[in-house]
Parts: sequence; structure tokens; C-alpha cells
Amino acid sequence: MNEPLPVTFPSPLTAFAEHRSVRFFQATPLAPGDLDLIVEAGRRAPTDAQGHMYSLVRITDAALRDRLATLCADQQHIRDAAEFFVVCLDVHRLRQLVEYRDGEWGMGGRIALIYGTSDATMVAQNMVVAAETLGYGTCYIGAVQNNTDRIARELNLPAGVLPLYGLCIGVIDREKLPPLRPRLPRELCFFENRYTAGYTDAELELAYETMSVKRDWYQSIGAYFARGGTMEKREPVMARAWRQQHLEPETVE
Ligand SMILES: Cc1cc2nc3c(=O)[nH]c(=O)nc-3n(C[C@H](O)[C@H](O)[C@H](O)COP(=O)(O)O)c2cc1C
Repeated sequence: MNEPLPVTFPSPLTAFAEHRSVRFFQATPLAPGDLDLIVEAGRRAPTDAQGHMYSLVRITDAALRDRLATLCADQQHIRDAAEFFVVCLDVHRLRQLVEYRDGEWGMGGRIALIYGTSDATMVAQNMVVAAETLGYGTCYIGAVQNNTDRIARELNLPAGVLPLYGLCIGVIDREKLPPLRPRLPRELCFFENRYTAGYTDAELELAYETMSVKRDWYQSIGAYFARGGTMEKREPVMARAWRQQHLEPETVE
């Protein structure tokens, strides 16, 4: 008969229920071996067509970490987290592998952007679930897109590699643990068989009511997604970065 395991593995389902983005970390490294577990969890993610169209750059150089934090809207949690990764889509390695066997590279920018983003995101989210299951806090950093082109140069990224977002992992400062944030009502996001377009006023009101906790949710999504918001400002940066990294989609007839 098998001996009972000497440890109890926490369930990742609890980690899902407890997930919140953590922005306050203790100045403590991860316990020995935990980073390996987290990276291995990332590596086990599925990958489209076995392409492994991702790379992660772990930032251990404190001066570089500081410069990246400044380029990412000066977010202090990037400096404070025990670990910080820049998550990239990557078709550079794949292209080399194809050409090494005398194949002619046949992938355009659109495929690279979509499949590379999904591959990288599955790896990153596996790491988040693993880290949170082990009791650590995590925070994605989309503000990488404020300066994608400069960050690509800082990290020496070749053509075909594009930074998508950062990922902080660290020991949670429990005195500053944020509350759980709400999610949109399930029926607005999950459909059966067919999409129902055109949300009713009642559904839109329900969305705002559910999502507005301390302040009206429009203050948040308006600042990001309305005219003049953060996302509009990121658009030209992304266009520059896609060109610089040779990932700009060509016109297809
Ligand atoms: C792709 C992505 C980018 C994000 N970028 C940032 C960021 O730059 N800074 C930050 O503090 N949080 C960032 N977040 C965290 C979100 O703000 C957070 O997930 C959202 O408000 C929901 O809160 P919760 O994760 O605590 O449930 C990001 C999340 C994702 C998925």
C-alpha cells in the first residue's frame, strides 16, 4: 500500500476562488524549489501546433528591473516582487527551427500575433495558478504596452519576439491584501450555441451594478477604453513595436 504523502497539496480550485491581483509584496524570495515548480507548470501548458510560440525573460538584474518598472507606468510592485518576468510571444525560434531543416518560413504576422499571444498566455496563466496554489501573490503588468518598443530593445529581443505583459510573483504582504474583485455576471459572458448580440439596458445596468464596488465602474473602463484613454495611447506604441519586431501583418488579398 502507498504511504500517505508527507504533505497536503492545496487545490488549485481554492486558488481560483481566492484569486486577486497582489500589488504589495514582502521583501522575501520564493521558497527553494518553488520557482522551478512554477516554471514547470508553465511549460506544461498546451501549445498550438506544438509551436511553443512564447518566451519568458526573468528579470534578476535590479537596475534593469527598475528601468522596466519606470517604463511600465512606474509601478512599484514590479520592483518589490520576488520575481518579475516579461512574457513574450516568440516566433523567432520556430522560424530558425523550420529554416534549419530547409523549410521556407510561411507564417505571417497575423498568425504569429494570435497564436503567439495565446501560447504565451497559457504558459503565464499556468504559472499564475501554480504560484497562487503555492500561496504566492501575482500581478500581470499590461503597462508593458506603454513602451513595448523600448522594452523590446532593453531585452535585446530579435525580430519575431514581442513583449506582451509582465508577471510579478512574490510573497504576499497580508496586511495589504486587497479584497476580491467582482466579475461580470456569467450570463453576459457565457452563451449556449449562439451569441445574442445587443445587450439590453437592464443587462448593461446589471453589469455596472455588479462591477461598481468602491466607485462607478465606468471610471475604470472609461479611463482605459473610451476616446483619449490608455488603450488609445498604446495603439501607436504597439504599431511601432510590431514594425520594429517584424511582426506587422501584411495585406492579404
Ligand atoms: C493582461 C493583464 C494586464 C494587467 N496589467 C496590470 C498592470 O499593469 N498593473 C496592475 O497593477 N494590474 C494589472 N492587471 C491586473 C488587473 O487590474 C486585475 O486582474 C483586474 O483588475 C481584476 O482584479 P483581480 O485580478 O484582483 O481579480 C492586469 C491584468 C491582466 C490580465
